[in-house]
Amino acid sequence: MRHLLSAGDLTRDEAVLVLDTAAELARISGRSVKKFPTLRGRTVVNLFYEDSTRTRTSFELAAKRMSADVINFSAKGSSVSKGESLKDTALTLQAMGADGVVIRHGSAGSAHRLAGWVDGAVLNAGDGTHEHPTQALLDVYTMRERMGRVDGLRVAIVGDILHSRVARSNVLLLHTLGAEVTLVAPPTLMPVSVPTWPCAVSYDLDEVLPKSDVVMMLRVQAERMKDAFFPTAREYSRRYGLDRDRFARLQDGAIVMHPGPMVRGMEISAEVADSARSTVNEQVTNGVSVRMAVLYLLLGGSGSAIGNQGD
Ligand code: CP
Repeated sequence: MRHLLSAGDLTRDEAVLVLDTAAELARISGRSVKKFPTLRGRTVVNLFYEDSTRTRTSFELAAKRMSADVINFSAKGSSVSKGESLKDTALTLQAMGADGVVIRHGSAGSAHRLAGWVDGAVLNAGDGTHEHPTQALLDVYTMRERMGRVDGLRVAIVGDILHSRVARSNVLLLHTLGAEVTLVAPPTLMPVSVPTWPCAVSYDLDEVLPKSDVVMMLRVQAERMKDAFFPTAREYSRRYGLDRDRFARLQDGAIVMHPGPMVRGMEISAEVADSARSTVNEQVTNGVSVRMAVLYLLLGGSGSAIGNQGD
């Protein structure tokens, strides 16, 4: 594996290697001294053309924990505003010696394009509405930790599937790992291509919820919408929001996930988001270990990820 562009590129063995490596690295993250020299001398560029809280900071922390040098590039405040292209920006950063480029961009396919231009590893941190593979990896890692397995899990992904790169990457990875996924959304927020995806489809959240081991709620991405996709936010929330009443109908042991950012009161109530069954904060914590694992594996790591740093 040279780049991480799509969750669908990962074989079962490759995905399990990332998850197992992340589990090994998580042991170090639990210690008081969290830094170790595995990527000393390597340079990681975070190239972000879209806003981010979790993904950018966790990639930065992941690289720094392994002693890499990190360049944080944000399109805002850069020469992008003067008309510089993605290709020229990337080649400029490569000329500074980037071994890995983490890219978030508003255009689907941008990470693939970048991989054809630069010598280093490219990690897709979200390309438009297309894919977000490290989010899927950290979600699956969290499911494996909480539920003890991924194979055979029944996972409902609920909300704005149409604009969600998280949904597509999760469907692909969960299918590879043997989970059964059902996408739930209003018909207007379901992609027309969804019959070709390896998952089931439903428009009825109340029918799917009691049969689910994992319920992943997605934000309505208003910033990507040019049209009205549902009558009102209140109507959407009434039919597709996870509120106290629906939460009470989950089966014992079921968990609630959300990739963030959440809009409390819209797709998920505050009470549900803060409940013991919610994995929202664990997902963020696990994101650091998973991104460490991906950086380690792509930037030439071999043997044990923690070398002689283990206990
Ligand atoms: N889940 C996720 O990608 O969050 P950010 O947009 O804050 O990175």
